Amino acid sequence: MKRTLITLAALALALVSVKAQPVVTQADKDRAAALVKQMTLEEKCKLISGQREEFYTFPVERLGIPEVLMADGPQGVRAIGRTPTNSTYYPCGIALAAAFNPSVAAGVGTGIGYDAKARGVGIMLCPGVNIYRSPLCGRNFEYMGEDPYLASETATQYIAGMQKQGVMATIKHFALNNQEYDRHAVSSGADERTMNEIYFPAFRKAVEQARVGAVMTSYNPINGQHAAENSWLINDNLRKWGFEGFVMSDWVSTYTPIGCAMSGLDMEMPNGYAMNYKTLKPLIDNGVVPESVIDEKCIHILQSFIAYGFLDKPMKDSSIPEDYDVSRQLAYQAAVEAPVLLKNDGVLPIKGGKILLVGPNADYVTFGGGSGAMHPLKKYEVTLYQGLCNLGKKYNVILRNGIPGNEAELKSVNTIIVAAGFNKNTEKENSDRKYALDKDQENLIDEAVATGKKVVVVVYSGGEVDLSKWGDKVNAIMMAWYTGQEGGRALADILSGKVSPSGRLPFTFWGSLEKNPTTPFYHKAVLDESVYTKHEPGRYASRHAKYPFADYGEGVFVGYRGIKHFGVEPLYPFGYGLTYSSFAYSDASVAKVADGYEVCFTLANTGQCEATEAVQIYVAPQSPSIIRPERELKGLAKVKLAKGAKQVVKVLLPMDSFKYYDIFSHDWVLDPGAYNIEVAASATDIKLSTAITVE
Ligand code: BGC
Repeated sequence: MKRTLITLAALALALVSVKAQPVVTQADKDRAAALVKQMTLEEKCKLISGQREEFYTFPVERLGIPEVLMADGPQGVRAIGRTPTNSTYYPCGIALAAAFNPSVAAGVGTGIGYDAKARGVGIMLCPGVNIYRSPLCGRNFEYMGEDPYLASETATQYIAGMQKQGVMATIKHFALNNQEYDRHAVSSGADERTMNEIYFPAFRKAVEQARVGAVMTSYNPINGQHAAENSWLINDNLRKWGFEGFVMSDWVSTYTPIGCAMSGLDMEMPNGYAMNYKTLKPLIDNGVVPESVIDEKCIHILQSFIAYGFLDKPMKDSSIPEDYDVSRQLAYQAAVEAPVLLKNDGVLPIKGGKILLVGPNADYVTFGGGSGAMHPLKKYEVTLYQGLCNLGKKYNVILRNGIPGNEAELKSVNTIIVAAGFNKNTEKENSDRKYALDKDQENLIDEAVATGKKVVVVVYSGGEVDLSKWGDKVNAIMMAWYTGQEGGRALADILSGKVSPSGRLPFTFWGSLEKNPTTPFYHKAVLDESVYTKHEPGRYASRHAKYPFADYGEGVFVGYRGIKHFGVEPLYPFGYGLTYSSFAYSDASVAKVADGYEVCFTLANTGQCEATEAVQIYVAPQSPSIIRPERELKGLAKVKLAKGAKQVVKVLLPMDSFKYYDIFSHDWVLDPGAYNIEVAASATDIKLSTAITVE
């Protein structure tokens, strides 16, 4: 108890001390330009790439330009440089989106900012915001779900939290990196409107509102042109949004010196394979690449470094402990808001008794793999087993590898918890993952069900899993995501009812790959043939099936946007998640205010315990001037209410909420007319609807 009080006091202090976010000023630009004037071509060619494998930029010591250490996120500081360290392990990106509460992401960004400063890391390679199209994408766990509004709000707050600590964020992977299979080769193809409405918004908002310091391009080509060498992507989009930071490539995603030099890319990582003095000097001498283009890259890099103070003060802040109490608390806060309760026949919360805990993630803090992997501070991580044991004497927790064959041992067991899901080897970058849990895990769930006891399955994953073999048979299903070093404590608090679950699905849980409208347009080689043959040709057949081309043929109708358009019903909709209580919605009104519309309604907790509702505001055009999704998320409110309490809730909808991307003017335009403003508990559970006319 004492420890918690100290932690909360420290947390309050830390959040009060939050500074303003660094922005590039004219003085920073002038200073950068003056420095570049003093640099030799060789020095400039070095500055525009990283130092081989070490996650450092090149220094120019004679001009006071230091090397800057980068580290991967997004689940914490994965510092790789010369002195690798472990760090606080926070819930992954999809978990932050599932919290449906951007302030949770702000907290994690802040915590990672502290941890980075404690280790001398100047640039964090996070957040990741590629939109969730299919559960097969091996990196969904790093990203923020299927909805551009949710991803934008979550990412913007995460970045703001981090950058206010003076640590630069890098939003990635720009753009359309929505599968991992054959990621260097498979070209993502989407039309202009789809890119702008679905795949660009989180990047754009990070630029316009969070003033993100750096952007990392993706591995994949976009409509045939690799992202790092794609001038349309970088110059005609990103820079036009007002981006003043620098653009770095993903690791080894560069191909030609001219392509990199002329596309707008500023820094090649991890090393100058394509852009180095040897390759660029002849191109400059022959007038193919103007030296001013190299100067511009250096200016972009230096003005960002200057804005963040990298040239003027040490990046390491030794006053912050590497294992910071405040970071732990922020990790817990995110972990406790993220899990999504999909199914509960009343078995949860578990009020006491004997619990049999089985499964690969029962006594193991699991995490997704690849560069997003996290190496938690071994001094402190709470497994689910430890979390349940810490609940106290009311619970008798028995940990076993499998279901005991011995009847006597099972006799007094009240509940079996199966901790299933993925890990660093089965869900990670550079490969896509299986839809179903491992056979061993499905068998374990079957064995648990066969005992006749109540069975709760906790799934650790970055997205939907196949429930067809076991979903109906178990009593409860909790999507835990990868919940970080505090996950065991947070889950135990939820499973025991100390806290009501409040996470919501940040993607549509279709219930089968076939139902997901993106499936026929996901790269064919990843999929089982049968997925294709079951659909009538013409509607879904991919004309690029034999080529490395992912044609985003579902257009803007990704996830819940496709429900009406494609006529498919999900098993669990976007925004869905159970609590231990119930809520009543009433008295909706919508009023015009200066900068948009204010939605007002009353929310009442009508159940038996304190709980938190994640309210969603959807905007539904009644007769749009072009074909548009039936409804789109445009507002959020996470409201905690004591049993019996009620509250008037207000949510602002800015005028942008009524715009679509117009391919003729290449801009967002307002679509005047009648709209329903929907106050909802999920994308298919509309509680209140108010019609308005937008002019
Ligand atoms: C990943 C990036 C990561 C980089 C450095 C790449 O494989 O795609 O997200 O930041 O490695 O580890």
